[in-house]
Amino acid sequence: MAEVLVAVGARPNFMKAAAVVAAAENAGLACTLLHTEQHYDDRLSRVFFEELGLRRPDISLGVRSGSHAVQTARVMLGFERELLRVDPAFVVVVGDVNSTLACALVAAKEHYPVAHVEAGLRCWDARMPEEVNRRLTDHLSQLLFTTSEDANANLEHEGIDGDRVAFVGNTMIDTLLAHLDRARERDAPHRFGLERHAYAVATLHRAENVDDPVVLSRLVAALAAVSQLLPVVAPLHPRTRSRLEAHGLSQLTGKVILTEPLGYLDFVGLVENAALVLTDSGGLQEETTALGVPCLTLRDSTERPVTVTHGTNVVVGTDPVRIVAAARHALEDPPQPVSLPPLWDGHTGGRIAGRISAAIVKEDAFVPAA
Ligand code: UD1
Repeated sequence: MAEVLVAVGARPNFMKAAAVVAAAENAGLACTLLHTEQHYDDRLSRVFFEELGLRRPDISLGVRSGSHAVQTARVMLGFERELLRVDPAFVVVVGDVNSTLACALVAAKEHYPVAHVEAGLRCWDARMPEEVNRRLTDHLSQLLFTTSEDANANLEHEGIDGDRVAFVGNTMIDTLLAHLDRARERDAPHRFGLERHAYAVATLHRAENVDDPVVLSRLVAALAAVSQLLPVVAPLHPRTRSRLEAHGLSQLTGKVILTEPLGYLDFVGLVENAALVLTDSGGLQEETTALGVPCLTLRDSTERPVTVTHGTNVVVGTDPVRIVAAARHALEDPPQPVSLPPLWDGHTGGRIAGRISAAIVKEDAFVPAA
């Protein structure tokens, strides 16, 4: 019997799961890797498995894109079938995407214990689908692994029993540290014709930023203005590319260098050597903090306050005037990281595997979460 069923679905899940699967297998736990295929493009999925040494999924659900309800329901239907067949001792879900919640919900209803990696993050903006996913997943889980102590406080505030919560650090940073040398060897800035520490990297993909043409046009105008200060390279999520085209905004991008989505190693290589990152990604706020690269978050809030208090992150919102002013300021007087957040040390996967092993040994892991 497989002991642990690890479920992944979308790009940011793969870095986190890679650290968990490697550590679990080292600890002697058999893992079954299930991919919902919420992300199915090779550039959002296959390349990460190859570069992160994550083995091919044992099970693929072929869910692909759809409305929130359609996508979530398809994951639930496929996951229920496979969960009952595999019959694991534990289900591990990571992050806050639709697949995370869908798998956790099915597992809880079938009385399988769920471990949530990256629990307790809150931005307090319930309009974000990720906030709904993370809140509900936490309340369905028996083991909640947090990346920062503010997340423990959030969970306590929501009445979640502290015995279920373990502050373990950040699996995203495990994977970053494990692959940094290989990323450096590829010398991505040189291959993209960019001078080290003299360019910016930008990413945008959040629904609230790219689906509304008014917000998207303001953000594109902001990036175009920043590209007057230094070259801006922007690997485009397919969602963003299609929205730019659908809203007729492609011509507004000015001197911004648009690329296809990049693999993990080239992207990390570009970010490490950037003078500035502008993003709405959660993972990138964490990676820039670990790498000491100035980061402007193009949202009104962050669920990762430790990247502001300890790291290089400044939350600037979506107003172009404010973004350009913050970019100028960050280039002239780059924010210095205070310190690496506690336990962002490359050993989080091992702590998670140890805690899951102990829970399996206890055999009483399933206690209804609510
Ligand atoms: C999802 C997550 C988001 C995460 C992001 C990372 C949810 C609600 N959102 O957003 O939290 O930060 O992944 O990338 O789970 N598409 C493709 N190819 C793919 C996948 C998607 O072209 O392989 C396009 C499709 O047009 C699709 C759109 O992107 O409709 C949105 O995909 P979806 O999985 O719904 O959300 P993401 O925006 O990728």
